[in-house]
Amino acid sequence: MTVHFIGAGPGAADLITLRGRDLIAACPVVLYAGSLVPVEILDHAAPEARVIDTAPLTLDEIIAEIERADEAGLDVARVHSGDPSLYGAIAEQIRRLVTLGIAYDVTPGVPAFAAAAAALGQELTLPGVSQTVVLTRTAMKASSMPEGEELARFGASGATLAIHLSARNLKHVTESLIPHYGADCATVVVYRASWPDQQIIRGKLGDIRSKVRAAKITRTALVLVGRVFEQPDFTDSRLYAADHVHLLRPRRRSGA
Ligand SMILES: C[S@@+](CC[C@H](N)C(=O)[O-])C[C@H]1O[C@@H](n2cnc3c(N)ncnc32)[C@H](O)[C@@H]1O
Repeated sequence: MTVHFIGAGPGAADLITLRGRDLIAACPVVLYAGSLVPVEILDHAAPEARVIDTAPLTLDEIIAEIERADEAGLDVARVHSGDPSLYGAIAEQIRRLVTLGIAYDVTPGVPAFAAAAAALGQELTLPGVSQTVVLTRTAMKASSMPEGEELARFGASGATLAIHLSARNLKHVTESLIPHYGADCATVVVYRASWPDQQIIRGKLGDIRSKVRAAKITRTALVLVGRVFEQPDFTDSRLYAADHVHLLRPRRRSGA
């Protein structure tokens, strides 16, 4: 018996991997994290599968479901939104499984930040502008940030920031970042990237808060900050430069 942690992707039902889809189809028990996993993904489950929304359950209740499946020798598909490696709360489940001697594996999914970049139709890294993306969040009631991971610290790097779980914390976000990026720095809030009701709010650090408030967005949004969102002038990457030779494109003989 194995528990398969599966990334369901950011929202659009066809943004799950083939492996994830096939595992859901093959598992007699499917546990899914309610609010952010699209219901269409559950259509892949077998008609006789036990399908449970874990949103109202505690960790103990989720583990009890898994133990029941283990006793019956039934594989479990444990479906989380986006990619399970980011803010997915799989670590605490894995810790219990290891203690119980229950096998598990992880199938990745498309994370929200990648879906947001796709919605914007652009790269998050541009030569000479930003070559680093910081995936972070801000502290809210339920979770504090470890010391040294304050937003202002990442802001000092000037990197592209993808800030999760912070649609309701924009005062803190903008106050922390304006000293580093300037109030005129491009800031984009992508709400429910890849869902049918996706929204893109473009602004600057100085005005994004009022724009998001006006749009009444309070959750399931990524706050993206950085000069890459300003369509800046940037140099072509060296990868495809005519004078750049590498293993897969060795120096061409003249006339060849
Ligand atoms: C609990 S985290 C889950 C992240 C997820 N594991 C991932 O890989 O993207 C939830 C946060 O991710 C972001 N998020 C998740 N899905 C999103 C989407 N479709 N569009 C925009 N942001 C999303 C929001 O910041 C939301 O508050």
